[in-house]
Amino acid sequence: MASLSLRTSRHLATSTRTTAPWICQSCCQSRTFASSVSRNQQPPPPPSHQDPTQPPLPGTRQDDAPTHFGFSTIPSTLKASRVANVFSSVASSYDTMNDLMSLGIHRLWKDHFVRCLNPGIRPTGPAGLRSESTKEEGQRILDIAGGTGDIAQRMLDHATTVNKDMKTHVTISDINPEMLAEGRKRFAGSDYQLAGRVDFLEANAENLSTIPSNSIDLYTVAFGIRNFTHKDQALREAFRVLKPGGVFACLEFTPHLSNSVLDGLYKRWSFGAIPLIGQVVAGDRDSYQYLVESIERFPGQGEFRDMIKEAGFLVPGQEGGEGEKGGWEDLSLGIAAVHKGVKPV
Ligand SMILES: C[S@@+](CC[C@H](N)C(=O)[O-])C[C@H]1O[C@@H](n2cnc3c(N)ncnc32)[C@H](O)[C@@H]1O
Repeated sequence: MASLSLRTSRHLATSTRTTAPWICQSCCQSRTFASSVSRNQQPPPPPSHQDPTQPPLPGTRQDDAPTHFGFSTIPSTLKASRVANVFSSVASSYDTMNDLMSLGIHRLWKDHFVRCLNPGIRPTGPAGLRSESTKEEGQRILDIAGGTGDIAQRMLDHATTVNKDMKTHVTISDINPEMLAEGRKRFAGSDYQLAGRVDFLEANAENLSTIPSNSIDLYTVAFGIRNFTHKDQALREAFRVLKPGGVFACLEFTPHLSNSVLDGLYKRWSFGAIPLIGQVVAGDRDSYQYLVESIERFPGQGEFRDMIKEAGFLVPGQEGGEGEKGGWEDLSLGIAAVHKGVKPV
């Protein structure tokens, strides 16, 4: 099993590099993970008043320290249920709204994310054949906050079509049953479902107690972690469930673009247009207002890189370094970023 995990890291180190150059500033065309891993701000409104009788969701840490919910400040115990309300409300329109809000660019980011991770066991050896043992196993991938299954679909497609790996399995995990229901619909009757290569787990990323330690080759989280109450706890759980040599990979928005002029323009678009599109298309302005505010509250790339390191992962980026030198990859002028970490062997 350990050799399989090491292979995962090697996949990252030699992953395919065929990405459109505009997609990222320091894209994986020009580097390997192994070598690189080395506003316009609106004032926060007053704290909101959530019904304190609402119980926290299972698996959440029982502390009442204040935390942010978009620009509001609320007790930590309430955040998971507030986030749950948002995603229950947006679940059925989530994929359509993603296309409208990002002008389709989220698809390119996700394609790039998956391509750089190169999931699946690749043919090895001079004849391009896998060893018998790895051929039997495939990889175990855990897609956390997997929602409607957008990343899982790409992982399975890539493993199957690029690496000719018919065994790799993805567990789509999410705290929200409505989002998982959309994922179930996507895979219903598919070859992947029929072959038992995809399953679903309703769980809080901060407590993955049903997943054994050292059992996962690749842990992915796309546009999910900024919603977690205790990101540090989720990172520790990621570390626990990954095999030694296993890979943590995160695709997430960043709070600020490095170019302040472009940052201002981008903020005007996101704060002006996205809640409006949410109102018109999904009849839900507040949820989309939260989604843009939550981006502002997410740590910058350097700070998040340090959090990944703190959880125990190897991230070879340097303190003070930016982009590739800092250990992450900016996408589309830094609107989003890819972070990776490897669990030491
Ligand atoms: C913006 S969606 C991303 C969905 C999908 N990964 C994608 O890229 O399209 C965020 C997801 O995070 C989930 N989520 C929020 N808090 C969570 C938590 N504590 N544990 C697990 N999932 C969580 C939400 O239910 C939602 O499905």
